[in-house]
Amino acid sequence: MVDEAKKRILITGINGMLGQDLGPVLETQFLISGIDLQNPEGSKYDYFCCDITNINELTAAFEKINPWLTIHGAAFTDVDGCENNPEKAEAINIKGTNNIVSLCKQYGTKLIYISTDYVFSGEKSSAYTIDDTPAPLNVYGRTKLEAEQLVLRELPESLIVRTSWLFGKGGKNFVKTIIDKSSQVDTLKVVNDQRGSPTHTLSLSLALKELISAVFLAPVNAENYGVYHVSNSENCTWYEFAKKITDLCDIDVNIVAVDSTEFVRQALRPKRSILDNSRYEKATKNKLCSWVQALQSYLTQG
Ligand SMILES: NC(=O)c1ccc[n+]([C@@H]2O[C@H](COP(=O)([O-])OP(=O)(O)OC[C@H]3O[C@@H](n4cnc5c(N)ncnc54)[C@H](OP(=O)(O)O)[C@@H]3O)[C@@H](O)[C@H]2O)c1
Repeated sequence: MVDEAKKRILITGINGMLGQDLGPVLETQFLISGIDLQNPEGSKYDYFCCDITNINELTAAFEKINPWLTIHGAAFTDVDGCENNPEKAEAINIKGTNNIVSLCKQYGTKLIYISTDYVFSGEKSSAYTIDDTPAPLNVYGRTKLEAEQLVLRELPESLIVRTSWLFGKGGKNFVKTIIDKSSQVDTLKVVNDQRGSPTHTLSLSLALKELISAVFLAPVNAENYGVYHVSNSENCTWYEFAKKITDLCDIDVNIVAVDSTEFVRQALRPKRSILDNSRYEKATKNKLCSWVQALQSYLTQG
C-alpha cells in the first residue's frame, strides 16, 4: 500500500550509475519517481521517459509527479564526448538544468544538483574546499559549473553536491573497465599523474540521504544551503586505483604507471581534484569511509 504521508522525491537520470543506487537507498523513507531518456524494463518506481531539454515533456512529468524534492543527476557525463560536442553538453547540462530549475520554482520543489570535482583546475596542492574558486579545464566542467551558478542564482535554497570519480553497479565505470581489460591483455598502462577520490555511488546515495535529513527535514536554517563536497575519504591516482582493484580481485596483470601525455584525449583533466568534505561532515555528523573500504564493499556486494 502506498504511504501517502511519505514525501515524494524525483530523481533525474534514475537509470544512470548514481540513480540506480539512489532509488533503493531513498525508497525506505520516501516515495520515488524517476525520469530518464530510456524506458527501463519493469521499473519499480513511478517512471517517466522524458528528455530534460524538452520543457513540454518535463512540464508534463512535473504535473503528474509534483515532487517535494528533486535530485538532479541527469547529465551528459562523457567528458570527452562533451569536448567533441559542446552544443549537446550545453543543451543537456545547462539548458536541461535551467528547465529543472524553472519547474522547481513553479512547483515549490526543493532541489539538489549533483556536480563534479571537474569544476576545478587541479592546480591546488591540498584538497578543494567549497570556498575555492572553480576554474574548469574542459567543456564538461564548464557546463556543470554554469549549471551550478544558475541553480544558486535562481533557487538559493538549493544544495549543490560536488562528487568525484564515481563507480557503482549501475554503470560503465573504471573498476569494471580494469577487470574486463585485465582478462584480455598481460599489461595495462594507467595514468599516474591525476589524483582524486574514487567514490562509490552507494556511499554517495547514503550521504545524500543524510544531507536531506540534516538540511530539508530539520528546522529551516538558511546557512545550510549552498555547496557541499561529498566523496569517499582518502585519495589515489588512477594507477593506484587500478592496482588496488587487481590486488583485491586477485587478478594477475602487469599494471604500468604512465604519464597522461601518453594518452591523447579530447578533454584535459585536473591533475589533483581532491574534495574537502568538512562542510558535509559538520552538517551531518557523518564521515564517508575510505575509497578502499568502499571498493571492497562494491566488489563483494555491488
Ligand atoms: N561519473 C562520474 O565519475 C561523476 C563524477 C562526478 C560527478 N558526476 C555527476 O553525477 C551525476 C550522475 O553521474 P552518473 O555517472 O550516474 O551519470 P550517468 O550514468 O551518465 O547517468 C546519467 C543519466 O542521465 C540520463 N540523461 C542524459 N541526458 C538526458 C536528458 N537529456 N534527459 C533525461 N535524462 C538524460 C542518461 O541517459 P543516457 O545514458 O541514455 O544518456 C543517464 O541515464 C551527473 O550529474 C554527473 O555529472 C559524475
